[in-house]
Amino acid sequence: MFGSLIVDIKHLRRVFGQFATGVTVIVGLDSRGEKSAFTATSFNTVSLEPPLAVFSVSKKGQICSHLLQCETFIVNVLAEHQADLSDLFGRLAAPEDRVQALHDMEHEWGARVPDALAAMRCVPFLTQDIGNHMLFVVRVVEAVFEEGHKPLVFFSSRYQAIQGLIVPECPDVEKIS
Ligand SMILES: Cc1cc2nc3c(=O)[nH]c(=O)nc-3n(C[C@H](O)[C@H](O)[C@H](O)COP(=O)(O)O)c2cc1C
Repeated sequence: MFGSLIVDIKHLRRVFGQFATGVTVIVGLDSRGEKSAFTATSFNTVSLEPPLAVFSVSKKGQICSHLLQCETFIVNVLAEHQADLSDLFGRLAAPEDRVQALHDMEHEWGARVPDALAAMRCVPFLTQDIGNHMLFVVRVVEAVFEEGHKPLVFFSSRYQAIQGLIVPECPDVEKIS
């Protein structure tokens, strides 16, 4: 359906890894209040009007089937000091540690990472089964950010920090759509 694989997967992973991203922890909440959380670097923005964002989830794990039942997603953009949290929800971790971390996230939205760079409360807009992932397009209904924090960056399979500015000011940033 998608044609033959012309790029070696290991090589492609390294090439994709050259695209630096922020790091998010996304919490899904279903109607019974059940939560699941996972680390995602696939988060990206889609549209301002309407306010849409996207992330993709591997269909392999259990998390995907739960997320398909969720009516709310809390996207937490991690700050520089939160690599441990990214690992907790992104790599093999003791289930009790994840339960404790989710407990620490209790918030009127349902869950929120304390001290994150930004957080968005989202609702489902569209899902698309694609390749070995499920694509979730979500509508942002509430959004906040913390002034002065620096982002956690993921580049070349490693956590990195932003070192400094290349261009001191971007004068027309408001005009970029
Ligand atoms: C930095 C980082 C980014 C990740 N990004 C994604 C992603 O965008 N989509 C995805 O399905 N999994 C991603 N993962 C893996 C999931 O977070 C992980 O498989 C999920 O938490 C399930 O964990 P488990 O298999 O131990 O239960 C990422 C992991 C890390 C460490």
